[in-house]
Amino acid sequence: MCGIVGYIGPRQAVGVLLDGLSKLEYRGYDSAGIAVNTGGAIEVRKNAGMLKVLKGELETQALNGTLGIGHTRWATHGKPNDVNAHPHATEDGQIVIIHNGIIENYLALKESLQARGHKFLSETDSEVLAHLIEEAYSGDLEAAVRTTLRQVRGAYGIVVTHAAHREIVAARTVSPLVMGVGVGEMFLASDVPALLPYTREMVFLHDGDLVVLHEGDYFISDLEGNALTREVTHIDWDAEAAEKGGFETFMLKEIYEQPQALTNTLLGRLVDETGEVELELNLDPGSFKRISIIACGTAFYAGLVGEYLIEQLARIPVEVDVASEYRYRQPLVSPDTLAIVISQSGETIDTLEALREAKKYGAKTLGVINAKGSSMTREVDDTLYIHAGPEIGVASTKAYTSMVGAMLMLALWLGRARGTLDAARGTALLKAARELPRLVEESLSEARVAQIKAVAEKYAHSRDYLFLGRGVNSPTAFEGALKLKEISYIHAEAYAAGEMKHGPIALIDETLPVVVVATDSELLEKTISNIQEVRARGGKVIAIVSDGDTDASRHADDVIRVPRTLELVSPIVNAVALQLLAYFTAEALGRDVDKPRNLAKSVTVE
Ligand code: G6P
Repeated sequence: MCGIVGYIGPRQAVGVLLDGLSKLEYRGYDSAGIAVNTGGAIEVRKNAGMLKVLKGELETQALNGTLGIGHTRWATHGKPNDVNAHPHATEDGQIVIIHNGIIENYLALKESLQARGHKFLSETDSEVLAHLIEEAYSGDLEAAVRTTLRQVRGAYGIVVTHAAHREIVAARTVSPLVMGVGVGEMFLASDVPALLPYTREMVFLHDGDLVVLHEGDYFISDLEGNALTREVTHIDWDAEAAEKGGFETFMLKEIYEQPQALTNTLLGRLVDETGEVELELNLDPGSFKRISIIACGTAFYAGLVGEYLIEQLARIPVEVDVASEYRYRQPLVSPDTLAIVISQSGETIDTLEALREAKKYGAKTLGVINAKGSSMTREVDDTLYIHAGPEIGVASTKAYTSMVGAMLMLALWLGRARGTLDAARGTALLKAARELPRLVEESLSEARVAQIKAVAEKYAHSRDYLFLGRGVNSPTAFEGALKLKEISYIHAEAYAAGEMKHGPIALIDETLPVVVVATDSELLEKTISNIQEVRARGGKVIAIVSDGDTDASRHADDVIRVPRTLELVSPIVNAVALQLLAYFTAEALGRDVDKPRNLAKSVTVE
């Protein structure tokens, strides 16, 4: 994890670096640091804690210089303290590095460096890079970085500078790195939003790329020194889109962006004239016999909804794995498998490695991804972008509903193409999909939001929460519980409603709020029985019901009404209510919603 930035040009570096880091704090916020070439010497400032601590220090002790690098950390090796914060320097302070990733063979490297007399200050794996570069350096920084990287194993986005050179050398493997191309100035960052205020011309560096930056030019090569050409991509995102736009938190802003995000995910893909779905995929829908969906976290729950939809509509066997398990369980994969990776960032290392595992056995691959140009998009055969726009809040909201929307599109497309979905049902589902942005907008009306807020505040001091759902909404319950855990720190469990009697029922007493997804469904009666089982044991039922419901709501302590829609598309509408429930619970408890403790937005370490 971690966010990194670099700058060389005419501006004062500190402003650019702090500005960039503030957009990258979602990648980690245990500590932050910068290094600036102040004219023949490099000065480092770094502190444990969030970026504001560093900012405060820089206000009292300014740094002047127009070349610098910066880092915001999510600790892997070594505690989040001042010493372990990046940048790391050599003993003489001439060479300074920042690193995002993990150097897997760092212990062996560290021992041999120590045996040769190097003094280590930190407990980090990253510091070996500084000392290795120092050893390899004999006047040519680029060559020294190249020699060093040939010795290390692992993941890195690394940015290096030397007091005596007006240049920055950077490289990446696995960890992301984007270069911003300005006029007479150059930038580096882990992610696009950090650079948007300065340039829209970006180069997405590939695995194994090394780049040397001067103010007016750059040179990209591989680790052997062979020159490479990389496309410059013009980014058309609005810089505003990466900012909070008037909302108190990014998460709330992103919850409210869902009608727009869903419009982007769904509407451009529905062809009015024919009632078909147009996905612009090269994938031959008849070329595989089974589907394996692989993802982590929230994306995994979107995968579970996808499993349900694809099996129902396209009648293809689907299995869903968390990526960290998939890699190591010797999965049964063959060329007639379609492996689908789902990821907001396109950078989650577990998912990326699982994708590579599937490819090794000849699977066809499809990415359902938000971040353009991300690592996964370059390694899959085909990408179905979810088009949710940049998501900054650590807890995923609009990316989740857009992922589910994309899986719905995929299931409809496969069902139509494989002849398993008849025209009448297909048309009804397409119509319901088209309505989704409007229904989500309706879910976010002032009155509905106020009602969810009241319920959230009523139960905010509960110790535990249980979430139940059935069928296509059983993943909705899981995602609801995950959201609550992530941002409120309340312990929450989720179960398929019918499974409650096999264990979790023992937890129920009058202190336990139980959220039951009881929207319109063929199995609603069975869910109502579950509600009664909870009530009979004194549990407090918060029922999520469809507008107009008179059955489930009769048995509940609290009722949250959501717009009525078809069961198969309802997970999108229902998820919004559960996001708001989690949000207002966390707010009532005074949590830092955008930066929940111990979590990071994009996990690029195993
Ligand atoms: C992290 C985040 C989760 C996210 C998961 C997968 O754990 O905290 O919110 O769902 O990674 O991320 P991805 O970018 O692959 O969707």
